[in-house]
Amino acid sequence: MGIRDCKECYGAVSRWLHWGMALLIAWQFATASARVLAKDSALDQFMWATHKPMGLLLLILALLRVAWLLSNAGRRPPSISTPARLGHLAMYALVIAIPTLALLRQYGSGRAFSPFGLSLMPGFEGKIEWLMAPANLFHGWLGWLLLALIVGHIVMALLHGRRPGDEDVMRRMWGKG
Ligand code: HEM
Ligand code: HEM
Repeated sequence: MGIRDCKECYGAVSRWLHWGMALLIAWQFATASARVLAKDSALDQFMWATHKPMGLLLLILALLRVAWLLSNAGRRPPSISTPARLGHLAMYALVIAIPTLALLRQYGSGRAFSPFGLSLMPGFEGKIEWLMAPANLFHGWLGWLLLALIVGHIVMALLHGRRPGDEDVMRRMWGKG
């Protein structure tokens, strides 16, 4: 398996980004679920403390992933169908839009934000309401929509390749190159 992608399978960088982000996203939804199901419990407090920094890390990885995708354009395994292509596109769009809206809200709230000990937003007096409104309306809902797409994505990835003559997509992302 090479570093870069080729027509038959994904290369090492695409695979690390895909499976690494899958793990981090699983954690991110675990933090959101603990928030909904066990608000203010010790588990919620422990997990929620990681939600914002992890969301920022996911945004950075998603942007790197788009840059890598573009630099490998024309040499990646082709999507097996239009719904697959649109589904992948929607997951990319959401994994960028969801944390971006939240970060704009964080800035607009005027509260300091220091992920991983870095003083990214020092905070200020007052609030910028219009920067907060989009995330107040959509951040959570888009988050759950992304989770629904991911569940569908996993089911389809497991189904494809089981039927005779179908493309074994799992081999392209997981198997030996
Ligand atoms: C890919 C990244 C992210 C995902 C998938 C995600 C997902 C979610 C989900 C599903 C909820 C809803 C929980 C509920 O229904 O109560 C939520 C809530 C929240 N998230 Fe995120 N999040 C991400 C990034 C971020 C970032 C970067 C921040 C802040 C800098 C943030 C701040 C919040 C806050 C304050 C809430 C509670 C208020 C609300 O529901 O809008 N999230 N997140
Ligand atoms: C256990 C969880 C997962 C499994 C089994 C899985 C499986 C796969 C497989 C087999 C492919 C290759 C499809 C092909 O060659 O046409 C793929 C591609 C892809 N997956 Fe997943 N996936 C998982 C989690 C995720 C998550 C959490 C995301 C969220 C962003 C995601 C986003 C993508 C995208 C965008 C592609 C297109 C290739 C790329 O641009 O990297 N996957 N996945």
